[in-house]
Amino acid sequence: MVGTGYVGLVVGACLAETGNNVCCADIDTKKIESLRNNVLPIYEPGLEPLVERNQKEGRLSFTTSLEEAIASAEVLFIAVGTPPEENGAADLKYVLQVAALVGRHMTREMVVVTKSTVPVGSAAKVAAEVAKEAKFPFHICSNPEFLKEGDAVGDFMRPDRIVLGVESAHARRVMMDIYAPFVRTGKPILVMDISSAEMTKYAANGMLATRISFMNEIANLCDELGANVDFVRKGIGSDSRIGQSFLFPGPGFGGSCFPKDVRALLRMGAECGVPLDVLAAVESANERQKRLLVQKLRCALGEELAGRRIGLWGLAFKAGTDDMREAPSLTLIDALLDEGVSICAHDPAAVEHARALLGNRIDYAETNYEALAGADALVVVTDWNEYRHPDFERVKRTLRQPVIVDGRNLYDVEKMRELGVRYYSIGRPSA
Ligand SMILES: NC(=O)c1ccc[n+]([C@@H]2O[C@H](COP(=O)([O-])OP(=O)(O)OC[C@H]3O[C@@H](n4cnc5c(N)ncnc54)[C@H](O)[C@@H]3O)[C@@H](O)[C@H]2O)c1
Repeated sequence: MVGTGYVGLVVGACLAETGNNVCCADIDTKKIESLRNNVLPIYEPGLEPLVERNQKEGRLSFTTSLEEAIASAEVLFIAVGTPPEENGAADLKYVLQVAALVGRHMTREMVVVTKSTVPVGSAAKVAAEVAKEAKFPFHICSNPEFLKEGDAVGDFMRPDRIVLGVESAHARRVMMDIYAPFVRTGKPILVMDISSAEMTKYAANGMLATRISFMNEIANLCDELGANVDFVRKGIGSDSRIGQSFLFPGPGFGGSCFPKDVRALLRMGAECGVPLDVLAAVESANERQKRLLVQKLRCALGEELAGRRIGLWGLAFKAGTDDMREAPSLTLIDALLDEGVSICAHDPAAVEHARALLGNRIDYAETNYEALAGADALVVVTDWNEYRHPDFERVKRTLRQPVIVDGRNLYDVEKMRELGVRYYSIGRPSA
């Protein structure tokens, strides 16, 4: 497994858990050193015991030597980052660097798997790179990953489906063997051509991002027209053609996948002259949504925000992770700091990452209540469980005035009214 980030580490640990010998390699020496000591560089529920147990039992090892990992492997997963380039395209630099090393250091026939999210046509580039120095036959497989941060172990152990893009019987057989333990309940392994597998990953993320932006816009319209998005959501979600998932409005999507994958998909469309108007709108609607909470704060506190202090609950782009990549909290914080607002934030997992990005531009609180001391309003950005049912009397006592702007619709409007809280959420009546 080359690349031990959110994906590589989870996949490596889960594959070791089913009995495979997995060697995880990364160029980040600090990361590898701490993993050897069972100290995880990321927050991901349920991952630590897997890493510790499998390392102790000798099925999972960590190295900074890519050469060593490649030389010992029959199957090599490439799970390095594919960050966006300036023009939105996924940057294949790291993937192709690894591919070049695979050709150089392989010691036997191999299956080379792209686990990273890569644009259609990337597998061919990986194959060409490996082929330059390969002394043994090799087989390419595109095996996109659908896990979600915050429940990554559960998703990998009990996937809805596995997608395999292959072009040889050998790759198909080897990969079906590896994944057999994960589909004992009958979930499908979908075998297809490589281009379709690569496209499937982008189409999945494009669809999920579309649902989010669509619901955000419907919620904004509810706000204007006096409808309640909670009812609307249930009203449409109970249609079996629509379903209940991904219908919650919020402060815009973020994270390491949706924003970058939508942009990469748009770039793919632009490069081959296929308009992707829906996705272009998904992106611009999301950029607008990320600024919605500033407007809500103006409704709550008045046009002039300079000199105000805000208690902010949640920095991570969503609950269950410490990932801050493209988090809506960052857009909100930048906008508020520009206005002259001071901020004290709490997050159960992401403070360390936030500090690295924001330094002392904001204050950080040890507990969620501490973040409210002297604040003019509480703004909820991430839907962590511990924010769902707080001690509201304490919230009221600690804030300078009882104002809550809720970017996740966590609280009951009627209850807020009874408590005497001035409450603003998304697509629902204010209290
Ligand atoms: N994070 C997710 O939820 C998720 C889900 C599905 C797919 N993906 C995709 O998986 C890929 C990895 O994502 P991630 O979130 O795990 O990224 P990440 O940034 O957390 O991890 C990438 C790792 O690769 C390492 N790396 C970079 N270049 C390397 C090289 N040349 N050799 C060895 N290691 C190298 C980095 O040090 C880092 O540890 C991306 O393409 C992403 O789009 C991510």
